Amino acid sequence: MYAQLVKSEGSKSREEMTPEELSFQDRIDRGEKVEPKEWMPEGYRKTLIRQIGQHAHSEIVGQLPEGNWITRAPTLERKAILLAKVQDEAGHGLYLYSAAETLGVSRDELMEKLHSGNMKYSSIFNYPTLTWADMGAVGWLVDGAAIMNQVPLQRTSYGPYSRAMIRICKEESFHQRQGYDIMMKMCAGTPEQKAMAQDALNRFWYPALMMFGPSDKDSIHSAQSMAWKIKMNTNDELRQKFVDQTVPQAKYLGLTVPDENLVWNEEKGGHDFSEPDWSEFFAVIAGNGPCNAERLGARVKAWDDGAWFREGLMAHADKAAARRIAAE
Ligand SMILES: [Fe+2]
Ligand SMILES: [Fe+2]
Repeated sequence: MYAQLVKSEGSKSREEMTPEELSFQDRIDRGEKVEPKEWMPEGYRKTLIRQIGQHAHSEIVGQLPEGNWITRAPTLERKAILLAKVQDEAGHGLYLYSAAETLGVSRDELMEKLHSGNMKYSSIFNYPTLTWADMGAVGWLVDGAAIMNQVPLQRTSYGPYSRAMIRICKEESFHQRQGYDIMMKMCAGTPEQKAMAQDALNRFWYPALMMFGPSDKDSIHSAQSMAWKIKMNTNDELRQKFVDQTVPQAKYLGLTVPDENLVWNEEKGGHDFSEPDWSEFFAVIAGNGPCNAERLGARVKAWDDGAWFREGLMAHADKAAARRIAAE
């Protein structure tokens, strides 16, 4: 999903474009897909590497908050479902790393940038998952927000990214349903269980709204990405859609969205709602969220612990290549 941090240069006017850039823009305007070996502006390539890389990292780091509950799922069935969901996220990460690699960046480079803090992942995964109800809230709200972001990206201009999104979106709707299903069970349970569901909604509501990134008026970098069809909607448009979709779902559960200013606005045909606390968002992005150190620490440890396996694979590949050469 995670276009929230992607920056690109301001959009060029047609007069400022080179002939190559002009014909590139025309292809995009006609709805053609750009494929890996074709010419593309350097800014397009760089912005995409950042966006797809950040998206891939989010899928992988996003496994951690839910991985936290696999061993403590309340039933065998819930455990199997959660395991499958977390495995799906690993798969999403792999599709997306592969898509980024087609732009000429290596996976090792992407990993290095994640581990050194030079590339980000979605701020939402720096929040802790404190109770089982959080598994419901994460699936319902976080995967719900991800879908909101990703569905339009199926039409994005870069072929490999667009195709990855089509596969990913199919799985995301299962993720959201499993989260909502947990919430339904909790809300139909004991008063304590319902209170846990309400508490999870209280903690995840604003971080979920932050997933769409800063308000359009503070996000001056999206014009070029929109022109290139790397970004299909503005942050505020998507946030509004998310609120309008989620409020009736909360009502159905009998839960209260933690926003006193939330009200249906007949005139605009959508809800008015409070903005999240953007200072919190920027603090989390800067590395000062509740779980940043823990999340990054887990990823770096996994990378270091896997060194022997990567070396083994390389040694095997070298031997196989040597044998092939000797046989020729
Ligand atoms: Fe995903
Ligand atoms: Fe998901």
